[in-house]
Amino acid sequence: MKKCEESAPAKAILFGEHAVVYGHPAIAVPISHLRAYAVIQENNQSSSVNILAEDIGLEETLDKLPVHHPIRKTIDLFSSYTHRAVSPITIQIRSNIPIASGLGSGAAITIATLRALSTYFLQPLTDLEISNLAFEVEKIHHSTPSGIDNTVIAFEKPTWFIKGEKIQPFDIHNRIELLIANSNLSTPTAETVIYVREQIENFPIETESILKNIGNLTWAAKNAIAQGNIKLVGDLMAQNHQLLKSLNVSCQKLDQMVETALSAGAFGAKLSGGGRGGNIIALINTKSLNKVFNALKAIGITDIFLTTIENK
Ligand code: MEV
Repeated sequence: MKKCEESAPAKAILFGEHAVVYGHPAIAVPISHLRAYAVIQENNQSSSVNILAEDIGLEETLDKLPVHHPIRKTIDLFSSYTHRAVSPITIQIRSNIPIASGLGSGAAITIATLRALSTYFLQPLTDLEISNLAFEVEKIHHSTPSGIDNTVIAFEKPTWFIKGEKIQPFDIHNRIELLIANSNLSTPTAETVIYVREQIENFPIETESILKNIGNLTWAAKNAIAQGNIKLVGDLMAQNHQLLKSLNVSCQKLDQMVETALSAGAFGAKLSGGGRGGNIIALINTKSLNKVFNALKAIGITDIFLTTIENK
């Protein structure tokens, strides 16, 4: 029986979330050991396209899903872009990326599914085509996405991203070690993205100034990373968190986690992604790893993992 499996990684934003929606730069990295998987198998039993996603309790045929369901939208976009009707298949989706936690689980599922459809139906798509199709689905998840999530996940490379500009892979010469810690609170990204938009409408001067300062920090971070100045990268991360806090997209628990990581010796720490829940990232080295890990554990955080960022 014909069968194929494809996957896509999680992502973390190092600098610039929210500001990136308004044309400022952001830096994001793939987290390759957390992945979403899509398996496609020929379906001889029925004439329908079956979708199985146990993680979210979904077992449905494609025609029964609402038109704006992200998985249906992904398949419809693939069909119309490649002019290829999707014949009876079963698509199984699973993921070990925490949902609604700022790690790009939605975009990773979309991209794994697009890659599997492209392989199964022998319709080669470039990373850019995959990213552009996934961007259309991101609009369902994020309301007005910048495009950073689909880009870093489709290309699976550290990325310097400015909305509307050519994608620039980002060289990381020195290894960056991050602890990623989950608050276990989740807020859909669309909620904080819409909130920031309303803030711009209601308090344009204050809000735009915060976003501009985030942009300036991100430019400074680009140089600090290039120079391997890890201490400065950490300081900039901590400042970025303070700006996100003043934008009101953090929350008490994230602030506590960031402060705990910093007091335990992390070079820097910040929320990552849409905010008001999800994950923090803490920049550490071998010396501070255990202390930061244990300090986060001591305040009740159980979901913590280490990831190393370096160019592939
Ligand atoms: C979400 O991962 C990052 C945000 O900046 C939204 C976006 O860029 O689309 C909050």
